[in-house]
Amino acid sequence: MGGLIKSSIARKVAMALSGLFLVFFLLQHFTINFTSIFSADTFNELSHFMGTNPLVQFALQPVLIFGVVFHFVMGFVLEIKNKNARAVKYAKYSGGANSSWMSRNMIYSGLVILAFLGLHFYDFWVPEIVHKYIEFAPEDPTRYYHELTVKFESHVRTILYVVSFVFLALHLWHGFASSFQSVGFNNKYSIAATKFAKVFAIVIPLGFIIIALILHFNYVLNH
Ligand code: HEM
Repeated sequence: MGGLIKSSIARKVAMALSGLFLVFFLLQHFTINFTSIFSADTFNELSHFMGTNPLVQFALQPVLIFGVVFHFVMGFVLEIKNKNARAVKYAKYSGGANSSWMSRNMIYSGLVILAFLGLHFYDFWVPEIVHKYIEFAPEDPTRYYHELTVKFESHVRTILYVVSFVFLALHLWHGFASSFQSVGFNNKYSIAATKFAKVFAIVIPLGFIIIALILHFNYVLNH
């Protein structure tokens, strides 16, 4: 894929656009999952709609999965190319002076998020695909809330999710704001856009942490 996109500018733009797409997904995903902490019915209704709507299932979901894979593969390609380029300019490059810790370690926060997605797909996406497209199980619009809450019984899974969301915040803190620059969004709204990106990088991961902790303690205290 890296070879397909020749110029490093085009690769950076592709990386930024796929990142902005995933940021939009995160906002949608956060909104749906946030309903689970105050209304099981609303969460079931929204999950059933997303889970049975043909446009979501057969158009948006494949685009999302492609976006996730594209963003990670391009991330590795860019990291390797940057490392090779830096090796050449090592004499002139003086560590932190040129960039923040977050920007120099995007690959590591990205790897933690990738590991999280591995666990997360095992927890939710794979069982969903098996339920629908392998077992062809009868559709029960009220099953989603129970399937969600039982996963948060385990304190190990809850801790892994919470730690992953801290790394998601570190990744978004640099990635979201810098994606505006990468796509050439440089005008009088740039400062506001950067401020919005920094607030998003804190609020959304913190929101996911609150969802995971409430689902966990709710389950533990009621079972
Ligand atoms: C407490 C936080 C979270 C909860 C409770 C949660 C819950 C879920 C559930 C129930 C599904 C299955 C949806 C379905 O296919 O029917 C799902 C899928 C998914 N989640 Fe999460 N999620 C959380 C955080 C995240 C985060 C932080 C990311 C990204 C970094 C993420 C990425 C995904 C992706 C890519 C899918 C598969 C696509 C989809 O089916 O929507 N999730 N999640």
